[in-house]
Amino acid sequence: PRKLKIAVVPGDGIGTEVMPFGVRCLKAAASVYGLDLEFEEFDFASCEYYLKHGDMMPKDWKDTLSQFDAIYFGAVGLPDVLPDHVTLWGSLLKFRREFDQYVNLRPCRLMPGVPSPLANKKAGDIDFWVVRENTEGEYSSIGGKIFEDTDREVVIQETVMTRVGVDRVLKYALDLANSRPKKHLTSATKSNGISITMPYWDARLQELQKAEAYSGLKIDKFHIDILTAWFVLRPEQFDVIVGSNLFGDILSDLGPACTGTIGIAPSANINPEGKFPSLFEPVHGSAPDIAGKGIANPVGMIWAGQMMLSHFGFSDAADGMLKAIENVLARQEATVVTPDMGGKSGTTETLGVAIEKEILSLAK
Ligand code: NAD
Ligand code: IPM
Ligand code: MN
Repeated sequence: PRKLKIAVVPGDGIGTEVMPFGVRCLKAAASVYGLDLEFEEFDFASCEYYLKHGDMMPKDWKDTLSQFDAIYFGAVGLPDVLPDHVTLWGSLLKFRREFDQYVNLRPCRLMPGVPSPLANKKAGDIDFWVVRENTEGEYSSIGGKIFEDTDREVVIQETVMTRVGVDRVLKYALDLANSRPKKHLTSATKSNGISITMPYWDARLQELQKAEAYSGLKIDKFHIDILTAWFVLRPEQFDVIVGSNLFGDILSDLGPACTGTIGIAPSANINPEGKFPSLFEPVHGSAPDIAGKGIANPVGMIWAGQMMLSHFGFSDAADGMLKAIENVLARQEATVVTPDMGGKSGTTETLGVAIEKEILSLAK
């Protein structure tokens, strides 16, 4: 059945500005490709909700959201209103952990018509996937402070790697790389300096890659410091990159920056077993500096919707949405594309509507 129940959680800042265009584009794709998409919007996971209720989400949020196939998420956090660790650990990071969305899949592609800040790069030169571990690693809640507010103050936050947690994300990345024509997996590490967890990560990869199924794969590893340099100097060499929670986070802003703007980058937080809903969101945050101006790039949000359709196997609709995004960007109309992509009078609305129209007209 080509049906999905989608929970819409716009969040804060530009999350609320780009979400309507994400939903409109999904509805356009649904009408053209015959999908039955049902949307329900929620106001929790936002600073406004917190100020009213004293918490980021209602107590029964997990039951509520478990009823849905997918969560379509905008962005959360307004550091001038509430501390980021309160808003994010009270919402997005809870979703990722409690719904066991252990793969965070982040494509990075230089699109036709979008200028790269790197010299002499053309569309297609940058085309890779970051696979980010999404439930453990450096993002752990184990740690604390002692001797607070004294000169002996100590602050500790442990990095946690479990065998299950490391193996499952590495396997996902190995399989993804195996399914691509280049068959190339790069692992981000830092086993020279981070001397316990990172050598463990490397050792698990070395063990898993022995499987017969991966015999045709090219696998390499780089320390995260030089890897960031290669992202800028020679991004063509990458195909699938797997990294820990923090390394994956950093690489998935750096990659999209190399493709012109972080405003177009999407992200799928996946529970591959389908036991819990997966979550689809742009990579970017709430962008308080441009919130309220109507100029946020809606492509990250729309492309995240595309990833949702692709995840559920609606490849005709997903291909159509991606083609529509590419076509509109390729036209480079300054009155359509947003300022982060060099647009002169383009807005969230002009770009969002142009993509919606393109989805509708492609089908004709
Ligand atoms: P950010 O991604 O919100 O913004 C970084 C820069 O990129 C800003 O200059 C912003 O204007 C620009 N930008 C981001 N998205 C854009 C878009 N769609 N179009 C045009 N320009 C765009 O990162 P930040 O400033 O570090 O964080 C701001 C807030 O968002 C913080 O509270 C942070 O914790 C939160 N955040 C949330 C998420 C999320 O919910 N997934 C992700 C990242 C940051
Ligand atoms: C992201 C964001 C989040 C992360 C923040 C907001 C907690 O940067 O989704 O990339 O670090 O995972
Ligand atoms: Mn990030």
